Amino acid sequence: MVGSLSEIEGRVARRLLVTGGAGFIGSNFVRYWCDAYPDDWVVVLDALTYAGNQGSLSDLAGQENFRFVQGDICDRSLVDELLQAENIDTVAHFAAESHVDRSILGPAAFIQTNVVGTFTLLEAFRQHWKTLDSPIFLHVSTDEVYGSLSPRDPAFKETTPYAPNSPYSASKAGSDHLVRAYYHTYGLPTIITNCSNNYGPYQFPEKLIPLMCINSLIGRQLPVYGDGQNVRDWLYVGDHCGALDVVIHRGVPGETYNIGGNNEVKNIDLVQMLCQLMDELASELPVRPCNQLIAFVKDRPGHDRRYAIDASKIKTQLGWTPSVTIAEGLRETVKWYLTHRAWWEALLSEEYQAYYRQVYIS
Ligand code: NAD
Ligand code: DAU
Repeated sequence: MVGSLSEIEGRVARRLLVTGGAGFIGSNFVRYWCDAYPDDWVVVLDALTYAGNQGSLSDLAGQENFRFVQGDICDRSLVDELLQAENIDTVAHFAAESHVDRSILGPAAFIQTNVVGTFTLLEAFRQHWKTLDSPIFLHVSTDEVYGSLSPRDPAFKETTPYAPNSPYSASKAGSDHLVRAYYHTYGLPTIITNCSNNYGPYQFPEKLIPLMCINSLIGRQLPVYGDGQNVRDWLYVGDHCGALDVVIHRGVPGETYNIGGNNEVKNIDLVQMLCQLMDELASELPVRPCNQLIAFVKDRPGHDRRYAIDASKIKTQLGWTPSVTIAEGLRETVKWYLTHRAWWEALLSEEYQAYYRQVYIS
């Protein structure tokens, strides 16, 4: 669905370290990159936390330009060894604790991975990058660092002041500040991207869209927080990968690029759209129509009301725009969850059920 820059004339092959490559966006990115740039070398470093899943990369196992390493980004000697032994010139840094509700239950892991982990990677890359031809440290971040918008506020620009509201967004903001400081202080060739909500294949069941798909299929309540009027700006994950491709090839070190889908949707409207797709596409459903399962539940503490991205900088400066509409992307996503039951059933573990009880039942 999404094009790449693979036809660039005279392009020199890159050697990538992709942190968090067994997670949702990371695994989509690795698949995208290995397809688009078969002459590149891709090393995935992933700790395989609850959110990491080697099964999300299983189709790449035999691929010649790909290696998987299980390990922690906070492990400095491992990172040093990989950068050197693999002669890495491009770090694509996705690894993070990424779920807001979990950051409210237990923030410590967010500080460790998102702040200390990013610091560890920056320090390691600082010792490594100077002899390379075209080094890049791409830090994949979020629009949540900008805080919450009122209905009539303009969308977030790269110049919007940071105002993170959850332990998750505060830890990402901290990591962004470190990345920025390493460019200004040490000249490290870093680029930061701040992206809106992604959706698509291989997203862990705790996030809104997979949670609604899976709960519909197993006949569980569809829990909508608060009044359901919170707004998110949805981007199909393949479009995010395309944007990161453009940023790696054409982005300017020291710059920040906002990435978004121009798709602002209220949560309750999104859940209704998903229910309609489920009713249409699922042959067997425990409850039909699905929207009978919708339940308004207690709100997330500190729940940000609205996010919206102004993506005009990446459009005008780097020529990127999203290509997948929300209708197309949601349909593809629902079809994917319908046809990959084994992938998500394996994730409904005892750990997941315990988490679920803490958020939705206690
Ligand atoms: P995810 O939770 O699905 O995946 C995170 C991955 O990082 C997992 O594979 C996990 O095992 C790995 N990981 C966690 N801690 C690690 C550590 N200490 N060392 C090595 N690996 C570790 O997350 P995602 O949704 O794919 O998000 C990826 C990145 O994109 C994150 O940095 C997130 O902040 C950012 N982001 C996500 C979205 C979104 O909508 N999902 C939007 C904008 C930005
Ligand atoms: O904006 C980018 C961010 O998007 C990323 O940085 C995060 O890593 C990613 O998790 C996502 O954060 P959100 O908190 O916006 O995503 P989530 O899927 O958890 O929730 C989306 C919206 O749906 C939010 O307003 C909360 C609401 N929600 C979520 C869940 C899980 C519900 O109403 N019910 C739910 O059960």
